[in-house]
Amino acid sequence: MVFDELQTAVAKLESEIANGPIVPAVTPPEIRRHLERYDFARPLPLDDVVTDVETMLRSWQVHVTHPRYFGLFNPSVTAASVVGDTLTAMYNPQLATWRTSPAANEIERHTLGWLTRKFGLPADTSASFTSGGAEANLSAVTVALTRRFPAYGTGGARRLPASPTLYLTAESHHSFGKIAHLTGIGREAIRLVATDARLTMDVADLARRVAEDRRDGFAPFMVVGTAGTTGAGAIDPLPELGRFCAAEDLWFHVDAAWGGAAIVSPRLRGHLDGIAAADSITCDAHKWFSVPMAAGMFFCRHPESVAETFRAETSYMPGKTAGPVVDPYTTSVQWSRRFIGLKLFVALAHHGEAGYVAMIEEQARLGDVLRASLARAGWRLVNTTPLPVVCFTRDGLDTGAFLAALYRRQIAWMSEVRLAGGAPVLRACVTSVRTSESDIDWVVREMSELPC
Ligand SMILES: Cc1ncc(COP(=O)(O)O)c(C=O)c1O
Repeated sequence: MVFDELQTAVAKLESEIANGPIVPAVTPPEIRRHLERYDFARPLPLDDVVTDVETMLRSWQVHVTHPRYFGLFNPSVTAASVVGDTLTAMYNPQLATWRTSPAANEIERHTLGWLTRKFGLPADTSASFTSGGAEANLSAVTVALTRRFPAYGTGGARRLPASPTLYLTAESHHSFGKIAHLTGIGREAIRLVATDARLTMDVADLARRVAEDRRDGFAPFMVVGTAGTTGAGAIDPLPELGRFCAAEDLWFHVDAAWGGAAIVSPRLRGHLDGIAAADSITCDAHKWFSVPMAAGMFFCRHPESVAETFRAETSYMPGKTAGPVVDPYTTSVQWSRRFIGLKLFVALAHHGEAGYVAMIEEQARLGDVLRASLARAGWRLVNTTPLPVVCFTRDGLDTGAFLAALYRRQIAWMSEVRLAGGAPVLRACVTSVRTSESDIDWVVREMSELPC
């Protein structure tokens, strides 16, 4: 069976990557010179092309599926999810409408329904797969604007009687700056609320900022709580934010792009308490659900506002499919749409919920192992989170020089981050189902040997 072979190939690749380098050393001219052989003037045997492409990918990329990749939230992918994504490419169903791809649409609906229930959202929640978290956040802001300001959809932001304002923290994802730009409310619409010592949103400062803005004639419309910030894994106080938004008639969006997967874990889900009150949620399958990019998800408890935001009619489009179904082109900005959800469906079906709980809880445990190991080795931990992101430093550390040495010696991939505008610190996140305790022990030992 071809899929047995694919799984064997994934397993073989996994072990080869684990035993090879993590970080490439290559320059743009080197790659461009190599590509000059592809002038596309004559056909080449597929075997030769694939062999060459694999050599390029093997040599010239940061291997995010390496067990010692402690990076931004790009996970190692499970073999089942690769099989799912391969099937998507082979059948290439068009998910714009229900009637062109009934099976694919119902598989997505079924999968999203499972997560909708986990989040505690109502059964009629609108849920869609997106290209990623940035698109899901864009959907959230656009739908929130459409609901709050009926004139926004046709007249645009310039027709509104007061300028809309949006509340988040400096630790929130950078996509909101672009989104403010794209939606026409402008980047100045973003209000950066203060954070406390744990880098979570200070609700008293939020209340102050909203009151001030109302007094000054602005139109506050949305608060973004992050459940697992990109830099430090901080979780904003979701229950308090939910209550505040309800009292102030503000849209409550939870950006749980990475941390949202914790909802399946009995041990971790308590940290997401309050998420059920969200008007909308972003959660990425291509982060902690360990499936290949690109797979985000957007959940919204106001299906009628989603429909109003993404309504479209032209003569070349089929009319809305009749019956109890939703055409995906009416719930997102996309028209032609890949069967994004299959990789998550296949992986969930194969590993089962218990398999996912085990994967997620093991990575959270390894985060604790990493924290303890770094502390024992004399590093200073600078963030607090139940999620496996560890930020750390030591006196006199030059993060740039340290990371360069770490990469040169192929010890691990980590990154640097500034928290609350402070000095750069190191950031290591367990994102791989392949990372083990011995990887962590080895990396921390090797890091102690580095000169800077
Ligand atoms: C908290 C958070 N939100 C949104 C995003 C954007 O997600 P994507 O990269 O899938 O667009 C990220 C990405 O790391 C993130 O960490």
